[in-house]
This record gives sequence, structure tokens and C-alpha cells, in this order.
Amino acid sequence: MLYNAFMASLNPGDEVVIPAPYWVSYPDMVLLAEGVPVFVEGREEHNFKLQAADLEKAITPKTKWVILNSPSNPTGAAYSWDEMKALTDVLVKHPHVYVMTDDMYEHLVYDGFKFCTPAEVEPKLFDRTLTCNGVSKSYAMTGWRIGYAGGPKDLIKAMGVIQSQSTSNPSSVSQEAAVVALNGDQSFLAPRNDSFKQRRDLVVGMLNDADGLSCLTPEGAFYVYPSCEGVIGKQTPDGKTIETDSDFVTYLLEGAGVACVQGEAFGLSPYFRISYATSEAVLKDACSRIQKACATLQGEARKVA
Ligand SMILES: Cc1ncc(COP(=O)(O)O)c(C=O)c1O
Repeated sequence: MLYNAFMASLNPGDEVVIPAPYWVSYPDMVLLAEGVPVFVEGREEHNFKLQAADLEKAITPKTKWVILNSPSNPTGAAYSWDEMKALTDVLVKHPHVYVMTDDMYEHLVYDGFKFCTPAEVEPKLFDRTLTCNGVSKSYAMTGWRIGYAGGPKDLIKAMGVIQSQSTSNPSSVSQEAAVVALNGDQSFLAPRNDSFKQRRDLVVGMLNDADGLSCLTPEGAFYVYPSCEGVIGKQTPDGKTIETDSDFVTYLLEGAGVACVQGEAFGLSPYFRISYATSEAVLKDACSRIQKACATLQGEARKVA
């Protein structure tokens, strides 16, 4: 709901730049507001991160917003200060463009990675940045339904008007719990990140040992976004050809009992997303099932265009 409220600032036909792969809800939010999503595909060689030159190319006189999400759902990739500065340098040159930054996974970063956010990296963007966050991920408080945002006064006022006339209902109990989470002792974050890092490394290692899969090591969140290009064109034991990442996740679900999400849903194929927000025992079991399922495929992979 928080996100829909800012999209109400769109006029029909306004363009919103969305780096792909993206969190599945962004394009629909834009479409609901009669805006036009403009997708910019990330490349594996850049850990799927938006590049300054690609951002520059995507901006037109009709661009109203650029959406950034770091660390990312679905890739876990996060922008370093320098990478973020390269993007904010582009945005500074286009004063008609606003930035929505979804910082939901701010506290889920590993290997000493330093999180940063656009308004901090480039104070010149302060008046046209909407910084969104929430307690769902960092504090494992998904069910409390609390998100929050900081941004230009007029925009926040307009969002408040929409929220107050809708059924989003952030209850007073949830609000109080979120305040306690945000102001309370944060010392649990570091040990929790240590165990997330171990799970990430376990999953990345096991996926890289699976025939036909390759997986980058992301900086944050609790997702990995492996490539399944090396299984496209192969045959399952019951004779079906894996044509797409959707075919592959269906095969994993039906043949191995492992649920993943196809890259198609996030706007970049042939990949799939795995969430490692579960125990090491479950992850080990799931990854060895994936390895077996990959080893069982027959035939040669074909190059994806
Ligand atoms: C990038 C991102 N933003 C926002 C959300 C929304 O979280 P919630 O609705 O639980 O607050 C999610 C949830 O998966 C997410 O991955």
C-alpha cells in the first residue's frame, strides 16, 4: 500500500524506469496508476546491477520515477557507494526525475558490505527522493504490516491522504511494535547476518556444483538468482524438453519437490530465484535434490538467444 500511494503521483503515460530483474510488484503498481514501466535489463557480469550508461539511455522527458532496490529482491545484489554515486550523478542531470528507493533489506548485508541509500550518497537529490523501508525483513515482522517512507513534504502529505482513505490499516499495536524494533537493541543483527551468510555460501556452493547451473554470490538480502542457461534444451526423464526457466522450476517442483520462482516472473531469464531464509538442514536437502534433478537431465544444453 505504501508503494501504491507514491504511484498515485503518476499521470497517465508517465514513465517509470524499473531495473530488471525486479521485485514482481513494481510493474503492476505502475500499470495500476496508468504509468508506463520502462525496463532496463541488468547483466550477470555486473551482478545484475543497473549501469549508469543504461540509466542515462532509459531517461526521457516523460520519465517521472526511477525505482532502485538495494539489496535486491530477487538477486540479493546491493550497490556500493561508488556504484550508487554513478547512478545519482546521472539523476542529478535530470531534475524532472524522482527516485524511489526500496531499502527493505538494508540490514541484511554480508562480508562487511556497507549499505548506502541515494539521498545519503547525493544530498542534491534529497528533495526528489522517496526512501521506503519496513520492518518485515530486518526485524522478521512481516505479519505486522508496517512500512514507512521519508521524502518531499508535498509527496508525503499526498501519500497520507491516500493512505487515510484506503484500507491499509497500520494498527496502533503494529506501529508501537515497529517503533520498539527500530529504537531497540540492534545487536542481534550481526549474529543473524553471520548465519544468513553461512546459508548463502552453502547454497551458492551447492548450486555451482549442480550440472548446468551457475550462481553469483550476492551482497545481501536472502535470495540468490542462479542462471539455468546450462539446462535449457535438455530433457527430463519423462521426455519433456526444458525450454524456459519456467519449465525448469516446474521440473524441480514436480520431480524434486523443491519450490523456486522462475526468472520470467522477475523480468530476466533464464534464471530462477531461491530464498535461503530457512534452516541449513532444509537448504542442504533442497540443494542436493536440485543437484540430483540436474544430473538426471539428458541431452545437450542449447545456447539461449
Ligand atoms: C523488495 C521488496 N520490497 C517490499 C516488500 C514488501 O514487504 P511487506 O509487504 O512484507 O512489508 C518486499 C517483500 O517481499 C520486497 O521484497
